[in-house]
Amino acid sequence: MNENVFPKNFLWGSSSASNQIEGAWNEGGKGLETTDFVKYVEVSDRAAGETTFSVTKKQLEEYRTHPEKYNFPKRRGNDFYHRYKEDIKLMAEMGLKAFRMSISWARIYPTGFEKIPNEEGLAFYDQVFDECKKQGIEPVVTMSHYDFPIEITTKLNGFESRETVFLFVKLAKTLLERFHSKVKYWIIFNECNMVFHAPYPCCGAMIDNTELSEMQLKFQCAYHQLLASALVIDEGRKIDKTLLFGNMLSKSVYYPATTKPEDNLQQQFDIAMDNWLTDTQVWGTFPYYMNRFFSEAKIKLPIMCNDLEALRKGTIDFFTFSYYCSVLCNYEETGLKLHTTDLTSKYKNEYLKFSKWEWAIDPIGLRIALHQIYDRYHLPVLVSECGLGAYDKVEVDGTVKDDYRIDYLKEHILQLKESIKDGVDVFGFFTWSYADIVSQTTSEFSKRYGFIYVDCDDYGHGTFERLPKKSYFWYKKVIASNGENLDEA
Ligand code: BG6
Repeated sequence: MNENVFPKNFLWGSSSASNQIEGAWNEGGKGLETTDFVKYVEVSDRAAGETTFSVTKKQLEEYRTHPEKYNFPKRRGNDFYHRYKEDIKLMAEMGLKAFRMSISWARIYPTGFEKIPNEEGLAFYDQVFDECKKQGIEPVVTMSHYDFPIEITTKLNGFESRETVFLFVKLAKTLLERFHSKVKYWIIFNECNMVFHAPYPCCGAMIDNTELSEMQLKFQCAYHQLLASALVIDEGRKIDKTLLFGNMLSKSVYYPATTKPEDNLQQQFDIAMDNWLTDTQVWGTFPYYMNRFFSEAKIKLPIMCNDLEALRKGTIDFFTFSYYCSVLCNYEETGLKLHTTDLTSKYKNEYLKFSKWEWAIDPIGLRIALHQIYDRYHLPVLVSECGLGAYDKVEVDGTVKDDYRIDYLKEHILQLKESIKDGVDVFGFFTWSYADIVSQTTSEFSKRYGFIYVDCDDYGHGTFERLPKKSYFWYKKVIASNGENLDEA
């Protein structure tokens, strides 16, 4: 029986990020960006603790001096830059209503410091948006998804500096003035809370490129991003009142590792640290508990005159979050700890299964996440990322039978449906990702998330040809039935 749970214009979408798909790292006048220096780390080295996500000043110097020694997969992406027409056509044939993508800052302002934007970069996005329109797909655009012109990182240490706020506002104004008639939904920054975990991808800051303590650096960057976001929203409303602005949170659902009150306290603390950011984005004010936290952690936010007013003015219209898994919070003897986005905590939830990358698969967590957010903020919600990273294989008959991905998404959509029945105002669901792309945290290509298989390996070998997987045809049916037919393709 068709229950018509999903709203009529529900945005069935899929997501991506420029640094993970575009490639063409040195074409079209693009400058170098932070992600161009994130190398692929062999699995054996990863097991030995080598980091795959962040880059230090020392490493950056080595990569700049000897680039030939390293494999930088984000320079290749999945070749979207050259294949966007083919990709958007495939999305349209799947019935996709919306496509979330991001802008490469260094394509528009190659170093970040130019006065005049790079016309070739703007023209590229013009063409992408025009193609989306031609194919009846709504673009949802993230202004900044983990990439920064490298000059902003080396000279200013990213969002450590207040100057970066104004460089970002310059970028945003350029984008909004140019594209406001083509893009209605804007997400300012991807996953604001990931700064606590990784300031390099999230805020363009290197931990050895500063005089500040690591904690001060993280909170200073986070504060400057909050300020930049508010200023951009205020400017955007002056440019076009019809535009809608959203935030973006990496929403892991936190469970206490045990029933010990201390573990509950740690869970509450983790939620509170996320809420600090999102309360500011939604209400323009800091929650009461931050004063004590800042004072005890010796953190001083660089608040200047008019900032608080700017934060109050530039609040968001809709709330977005990525959801992949839940995590367990455990209290350590040393006291409450800032560890919000550690997806692989040392305790394992015995009731859940795990992906090959140890991310807990927890569809009910999505329902919990939707409630936590809607109950607190009462804003329309968009699930802007959800998906399963897996090793896919092309069978001898030339198909990819990714039933595990179908199962994962089906279970999550069922919980989404329950949340809508509960009364949560969700207006879209975006899978991660439309096609296989470079993994953000590990830079692997073999950690595949897409509905479309891309012939490429971790070293860039392959034709980059596209092949729809079984899940592609399944999602097509889901969309065509507006979420009512979740049975197999
Ligand atoms: C989200 C990011 O946190 O997780 C994406 O916004 C990322 O950029 C996604 O790709 C999945 O993470 P990973 O590391 O598996 O690619």
